[in-house]
Amino acid sequence: MYVCMCYGVTDKAIQQAVEAHGVGNLRELREVMEIGSQCGRCISMTQDIIDATIIDESLFKEVS
Ligand code: FES
Repeated sequence: MYVCMCYGVTDKAIQQAVEAHGVGNLRELREVMEIGSQCGRCISMTQDIIDATIIDESLFKEVS
């Protein structure tokens, strides 16, 4: 699913950035990819995906 249409960024790409680079917010995400600086419509969904991925990761760590 595309989150950012302006830069063609998918939810998977955001999840991978969180997992690979430990990205925790939009500012950190922008250090690894272009997102959110054109129209800005994707910003709140991007932050939601970052938050959800961090929660998933922490659940996974507790289990393993
Ligand atoms: S959809 Fe992300 S900047 Fe426009």
